Amino acid sequence: MTLLSVRNLRVTFPTRQGTFEAVRGVSFDLGRERLGVVGESGSGKSMTGRAILGLVRPPGRVTADRMELDGQSILNLPERRMRRIRGRRISMVMQDPKFSLNPVMTVGDQIMEAYRLHAGGAKHAARDKALEMLRAVQIRDPERVMAAYPHEVSGGMGQRIMIAMMLAPDPEILIADEPTSALDVSVRTEVLNIMDRLVRDRGMGLIFISHDLNLVAQFCDRVLIMYAGRIVETLAAKDLHQARHPYTQGLLNSLPRLDAPQDRLPVLQRQDAWREGDTITQSLDTEFPGGL
Ligand SMILES: Nc1ncnc2c1ncn2[C@@H]1O[C@H](COP(=O)(O)OP(=O)(O)OP(=O)(O)O)[C@@H](O)[C@H]1O
Ligand SMILES: [Mg+2]
Repeated sequence: MTLLSVRNLRVTFPTRQGTFEAVRGVSFDLGRERLGVVGESGSGKSMTGRAILGLVRPPGRVTADRMELDGQSILNLPERRMRRIRGRRISMVMQDPKFSLNPVMTVGDQIMEAYRLHAGGAKHAARDKALEMLRAVQIRDPERVMAAYPHEVSGGMGQRIMIAMMLAPDPEILIADEPTSALDVSVRTEVLNIMDRLVRDRGMGLIFISHDLNLVAQFCDRVLIMYAGRIVETLAAKDLHQARHPYTQGLLNSLPRLDAPQDRLPVLQRQDAWREGDTITQSLDTEFPGGL
């Protein structure tokens, strides 16, 4: 079943040199799956997530032929209506948690507020839920962390707090932007497990933005590869190493390999042709044929 359907999404910014296109016609469907989004820095991954949530600030401009959540358009909704969707039905774990947490509010109050916004209810119920979510992301002394302000927690902890906060309202879709980049391996595994369970048990749709191709290949069901604001290739995660697009192949070749160490990693030679041209879609046997 399709949760989110996006066609020809574009995000543009006016600049002195003319219009800059950060996202140039992105199309995909998201089901109850783990959808990875990879691509180099500046390829438009975060901007795609922000556009879905209506978080592109003017003078940035978002257009699309379609942007639907459960069949209903969410494109350029008035802010009042978007606020009812954001954080409740679609959540986003931002790339830099330090900027996403409110610096003058304790961690506990922020998680409780996120939860009550969605579920309402009494304060003590929200407190229990907040503690439960902090424990779920492997925070060992949740009582202390609840009382802390964002600047008093480490980067990795801030990232886990964000994840707890975004998952507390039980969203239909989670957009996770580099959610595990500041986490050590054991915590990372646990955070991935939490997201995995939400997809499998509750049917959440997950958009997982990452630089880590190996991680995406292992963790996700399907992958979109972005280059210069476009999806250049879409394929099943398990087939990532058989990618056909030269850009994807280049990304894979520039990964360090433990099994076959090289003195020097090849440098990816970018080609103008990749900026245009069609999306390569493998004839997939997967449940969610992607990138249209
Ligand atoms: N407010 C803005 N005004 C103009 N251009 C912007 C603005 N915000 C982002 N951009 C540009 O949009 C492009 C896409 O940015 P985006 O943040 O989506 O990249 P990304 O793929 O998430 O990169 P990274 O992997 O580094 O996070 C970049 O070239 C960026 O410089
Ligand atoms: Mg980004």
